[in-house]
Amino acid sequence: MESKWLICLLLISGFSTYCYASKSMRMRLSTEQNMEDLLTRRNLLSNGLGSTPPMGWNSWNHFACNIDEKTIKETADSLVSTGLFKLGYIYVNIDDCWAESSRDDKGNLVPKKSTFPSGIKALADYVHSKGLKLGIYSDAGYYTCSKKQPGSLGHEEQDAKTFASWGIDYLKYDNCNNDFSKPTQRYPVMTRALMNAGRPIFFSLCEWGDLHPALWGYNVGNSWRTTNDISDNWDSMVSRADQNEVYADLARPAGWNDPDMLEVGNGGMKKDEYIVHFSIWAISKAPLLIGCDVRNTTKEVMEIIANKEVLSVNQDKLGVQAKKVRMEGDLEVWAGPLSNYRVAIVLLNRGSWPTSMIAHWDDIGLPPNTAVTARDLWEHKTLKTKFVGNLTATVDSHACKMYILKPVS
Ligand code: GLA
Repeated sequence: MESKWLICLLLISGFSTYCYASKSMRMRLSTEQNMEDLLTRRNLLSNGLGSTPPMGWNSWNHFACNIDEKTIKETADSLVSTGLFKLGYIYVNIDDCWAESSRDDKGNLVPKKSTFPSGIKALADYVHSKGLKLGIYSDAGYYTCSKKQPGSLGHEEQDAKTFASWGIDYLKYDNCNNDFSKPTQRYPVMTRALMNAGRPIFFSLCEWGDLHPALWGYNVGNSWRTTNDISDNWDSMVSRADQNEVYADLARPAGWNDPDMLEVGNGGMKKDEYIVHFSIWAISKAPLLIGCDVRNTTKEVMEIIANKEVLSVNQDKLGVQAKKVRMEGDLEVWAGPLSNYRVAIVLLNRGSWPTSMIAHWDDIGLPPNTAVTARDLWEHKTLKTKFVGNLTATVDSHACKMYILKPVS
């Protein structure tokens, strides 16, 4: 039997450790090493994906378990025909309930025959033929949250290879029905499996913010849920925004805080409330995953989700998540830097009456005497006045104003 050896050299000057191991030792380490150790390394997940927040669609918020291949294909068609694909909505993500309740005799996940008779590979081929990407869903437990299909716990390598062989581009990985070990023990196993699967797959961690994934998710996935599931109402939406904001400093390109998928277009909120939802998600650099039926979108919904100017804030290359920079009761100013010294701001009125609001330069990170132009991203107008020191606007109840401020030389 080949001998096992491991030599480590500690370079005190840079506090770096270099190790050399025999082949058999390397194999042992790669299969048995403590996953917690992996978390201390940088770039465990270096798949090159998610340099800006992912954009696309997900089946759960509108369809829950009522999904089939026809719906997914028609959604792909609609993303193209509505122009949403051209705007950057590239992922078509299947959520829970796509698989049979048991694995096959080789332990493979099996697409549900009654709803996905052509299989996932054929669906991926279809979606790819349109230029889109296909996402799928699994769980770091024994069953997914619906309990209608097996989870990937203990089958990570096999499932990651299956997903890669089908041409999957995005994996949402849930946290239900697990063995009660910590997410930090279970999620990196799938990270490693995806890295060995031979296809770059965006890895979306969904442990609902339980173990503060913003603190460790960057090494493990490309995004991490920071909240429990959103519902299609104002209180649920703003509370997700609040919980997600706490972790603003920890988001960055290739590792995004995820306050859950969009409810815009599902009917539970007023137009202004959906505009708040979309504005806050955009400025927070959240994944923008449409959660309505894009086959039947109204003009009003399209005006929100297809607002190019708001999308440009979300996709700005700086990738800095905005924060609340002033809170006075129901009135909040959110701000975050954009490339080229610009600043994006949202003036949010959570109260019941139209109210005048002020954004002060010292709150939003502009030097005191800077003169700026203000572009209103919902009115699609650059305001005539140049602003110095502050900007004032009247904001309706449960509504917001969103601007890009650009210094003038
Ligand atoms: C969990 C997730 C949801 C959705 C469902 C599916 O609740 O947080 O986003 O994926 O499971 O069962």
